[in-house]
Amino acid sequence: MFATAVPGLAPLAARALAELPGTAVHGTGFDGRSDIVVFDGDRGALGTGLTEDVFVEVGRTLRADGDNAARIARRIWRPERVEKALSVWAALVRPLSAALTFRVVARVLQERSFVRTELRRQLTEAVHRDRPRWRFADPAQVEVWIVEYAPGRLLAGLRLSDATMRQHDGRPVERNGALRPTVAAAMVRLAGPPAGALLDPCCGSGTILAEARALGWTPVHGRDIDPGAVAAARANAPDAEVQVADARKLDLPDGAVAAAVANLPFGRQYAVQGSPEVWLRAVLGELARVTRPGGRVVLLAPQVPRPVVPHPLRLRERYPIRLLGLKTTIWEYDRFVQDR
Ligand SMILES: C[S@@+](CC[C@H](N)C(=O)[O-])C[C@H]1O[C@@H](n2cnc3c(N)ncnc32)[C@H](O)[C@@H]1O
Repeated sequence: MFATAVPGLAPLAARALAELPGTAVHGTGFDGRSDIVVFDGDRGALGTGLTEDVFVEVGRTLRADGDNAARIARRIWRPERVEKALSVWAALVRPLSAALTFRVVARVLQERSFVRTELRRQLTEAVHRDRPRWRFADPAQVEVWIVEYAPGRLLAGLRLSDATMRQHDGRPVERNGALRPTVAAAMVRLAGPPAGALLDPCCGSGTILAEARALGWTPVHGRDIDPGAVAAARANAPDAEVQVADARKLDLPDGAVAAAVANLPFGRQYAVQGSPEVWLRAVLGELARVTRPGGRVVLLAPQVPRPVVPHPLRLRERYPIRLLGLKTTIWEYDRFVQDR
């Protein structure tokens, strides 16, 4: 099998997959748009929350074995191997019938020997030769993807995940600037196993709150300065306790939560009140105060300058990722017991 993930999330997605019983991760890559995780597993892989799409592999090949679109398509779509992948697809997606609709998605890392659309055309023909009654359509029932996940290495598979799944933004109320659910899930996992209360002090439409509930955190607290965001978060995460509040002056007692997880308001969609550094220093101070010693603080922000991080927060790890083509970073802090 293989799965796509937000660029930069492959190590975290691989870790989540490897924790599933019976799953072994073989490697990670990047196809020019998404990270790719290659693994052996079963339907459980659809449920980590960290991957965008999951595929059952039909074949793999190397450019080194003949760097020509038609030959790659023939090598990768071998009817006897496809049969096995289709039985997995049929068990998880829909029963097989002679007349299905299909489309091909192709991603390559370079176009020196042939262009991407030529590979797509050749693979479409290879599928047609094998399944003459399948019809091309967009959207289609069967999606065949071919991805060059590392230079010269190609994988093809049938998509098992579908557009209605949680990782594809299935929020009841949509709001500009909402976080990708897979990034929210990755951030909540970095907060550790559920250990009591979790807070998102800038919760927007509640994506982090919903992922925290799904992963077993309870209670889940959301705060946002914007009443419209609070209304959206209440609709999207009905089990969370959400209030209008300023993250610079939280209404929670010291040590009230085991973890704080937030997608901070920087970037094109949201500005902070006043100087970003002063704002960040105030918010991080509050997060250090309300998070109990031994807890975690996980933030998404392009920059967190060291001088604004209060003493009890110690950087554990940072994960650079790309969202909508922009570089940003997940920052994972331990809330230490402050030395006196
Ligand atoms: C990037 S958005 C969060 C998006 C959210 N993760 C989602 O999925 O919808 C940042 C949020 O911070 C809120 N915000 C800005 N300043 C704030 C403050 N001082 N206190 C609390 N929330 C604030 C904004 O209203 C906005 O909803």
